Amino acid sequence: EQIEKGGYDHFMLKEIHEQPKAITDTFRGRMLADENIIKMSSVQDNLDKFLNANRIIIVGCGTSWHAGLVGEYLFEDLARIPVEVEYASEFRYRNPIITDKDVVIAISQSGETADTLAAIKLAKSKGAFVYGVCNVVGSSIARETHAGAYTHAGPEIGVASTKAFTTQITVLTLIALKLGQANKSLSDERFKNYIQKMQLIPSQIQKLLNIDSKVKEIAAIYKDAKNCLYLGRGFNFPVALEGALKLKEISYIHAEGYPAAEMKHGPIALIDENMPIFVIATNKGHYDKVVSNIQEIKSRAGKIIAVVTEGDVTVKEIADHVIEIPETEEALTPLLTTIPFQLLSYHIAVMLGKNVDQPRNLAKSVTVE
Ligand code: G6P
Repeated sequence: EQIEKGGYDHFMLKEIHEQPKAITDTFRGRMLADENIIKMSSVQDNLDKFLNANRIIIVGCGTSWHAGLVGEYLFEDLARIPVEVEYASEFRYRNPIITDKDVVIAISQSGETADTLAAIKLAKSKGAFVYGVCNVVGSSIARETHAGAYTHAGPEIGVASTKAFTTQITVLTLIALKLGQANKSLSDERFKNYIQKMQLIPSQIQKLLNIDSKVKEIAAIYKDAKNCLYLGRGFNFPVALEGALKLKEISYIHAEGYPAAEMKHGPIALIDENMPIFVIATNKGHYDKVVSNIQEIKSRAGKIIAVVTEGDVTVKEIADHVIEIPETEEALTPLLTTIPFQLLSYHIAVMLGKNVDQPRNLAKSVTVE
């Protein structure tokens, strides 16, 4: 096992560090940056289904559901196709309205999650076209779907999903870009720009991983917190949910993710000097509004750890700690903002002596209801 961990103390840490390579593998053969082409035969062969769909319904569980939420922002923004995202477990039992004009995208790392598999069977029985985004090759979900794309993240052993999440988002981004190009929602210029920026993501993550020691210092300060709040807006709202989930899963600290603007409808009542609040405040999406959220937290003595874009000035002055991410397009920021939260949860769990790779009560893949 020590050999399999490749010199890292835990699989989770190894898998966090594998993300630049994993995403490069996800791109391979699909993103031809020099030619400005996205080649995905599973999408190309079914282009009419995607482009004529009434809507896309994305189903998944846990972290895969969070990737689906990022997918909603991506498909709507880049390809102007309406999207709904559903927990597979809710979808399958609520007599959903599905027709043969719907496209269902099922996301699953393992390809074996019982609820997601059942949701696929239901969607197929109603005539929908079902597309899978799986990591495990030859898995039940990969076999049950009409078409699909593998994430190519390689084996993920840590129960808390890391590289599977970022590669799921990568696949969804490639599909959204391809559809946006095909239906002309994206001009040639915007499409090219996205491809160029996408290509930089693996090296940007590589660079970002150097923040590890800084994140470790932050982890040491907040490891004894009883409750934490994660806030983000737009593309980074799902990242807030995923950040909170990572902390819950492996450190057993209660954490909630919220869209930043919803803070005033509840979580603000919880804020005091004992409450660490992790805020994604990158310089694009609604920056000014997030800054005012941060000011509201500050005036209630909450502790602020902000994820900002390199060179940020405003948030730096207010927040207790800042973590900088490299500059990219707003739609691509989830691939970067996720990284500090993965490291933070990892370090807190290690400091608290928890079983990082196999947290209590959780399974890597939930094959029963
Ligand atoms: C379990 C795992 C999570 C995962 C979820 C969905 O809860 O612990 O990490 O996100 O199942 O799994 P899937 O394999 O369908 O992505």
